[in-house]
Amino acid sequence: IVSFFQPKILVGRRVLITAGPTFEPIDPVRGITNRSSGKMGFAIARAAQQAGATVRLVAGPVALGTPWGVVRDDVETARQMYDAVLSTAADCDVFVSVAAVADWRVDEASVEKIKKTAGHRVPSLAFVENPDILATVAQLPNAPYCVGFAAESGNLETHGEEKRVRKNVPLLVGNLGPKTFGRDDNEVVLFDAHGVTRLPRMDKDALAVALVREIARRLPDASL
Ligand code: CTP
Ligand code: CA
Repeated sequence: IVSFFQPKILVGRRVLITAGPTFEPIDPVRGITNRSSGKMGFAIARAAQQAGATVRLVAGPVALGTPWGVVRDDVETARQMYDAVLSTAADCDVFVSVAAVADWRVDEASVEKIKKTAGHRVPSLAFVENPDILATVAQLPNAPYCVGFAAESGNLETHGEEKRVRKNVPLLVGNLGPKTFGRDDNEVVLFDAHGVTRLPRMDKDALAVALVREIARRLPDASL
C-alpha cells in the first residue's frame, strides 16, 4: 500500500463521510435518484484512512468496492442516511458530506407495483422534503468539523459562499457539477471564512489527498 501522508495528519481523528446518491422509492420497482457515482466520497474515505483517521463511510447505492480499513454502512433513502449519520455524528471529529442527497421523496410510496391500467392513466407524484443531513449535523451541540460539497450549474463563486453560510459549515467544496458527473477528475473551489481557494484540475484520487490536507490543517488543534 502506498502511503500518501508522511506524517499521518489525521491520526486519532474519527471521520464520518457520506457518499453516492440516495434512492427514493415510488413503488417496489421504481424510484427517483440523484446523479452521483460515489467516486469522490469513496476517494476521500480512502485518503482519510491512509492519513491515519478512523473512517466510517455511509454510502447510498453505488457500484464501488469498500476502501481498505474503512467501515461501510450501506443505505438507500435520505432518511436512512440521516439515521445512519445522526447515530454516530456526535462521536466524530470530522463530517464530510459528499453525498448527493435527494431533496425530495415521494410522499406515499406505493406498497404494490403501480400497473399500467387500461386507459393508460399516467400516475402523478406528490413530493415531500427530505431532512437536511449536513445542516442538522452542523447544528449539533457537539458538532464535528463539517465539510459540505456543492455541485452548482451556474455561478459557483456567489452560490458557494452563500451556501456555506446558509448551511453554517466552516468549509464548503464547490464544483461545476454536471460537467464532472461520473468522470475520474474534477476541479474544485474551497470556500471558508477566509475566502476562496482554487485547486487545479486533478483526478479524484489526487484531489481527495489534497482535500484531506486542506481539511486537516483547518481542524481545531491541528498539529501541522
Ligand atoms: N445535503 C444533505 N442533506 C440534504 C441535502 C444536502 O446533507 N437533504 C448536503 C450535501 O451532502 C452537500 C450539501 O448539503 O454537502 C449541499 O448540498 P446541495 O444539494 O448543494 O445543497 P441544497 O441545500 O440541497 O441546495 P440546492 O440543491 O437547492 O442547490
Ligand atoms: Ca440539494
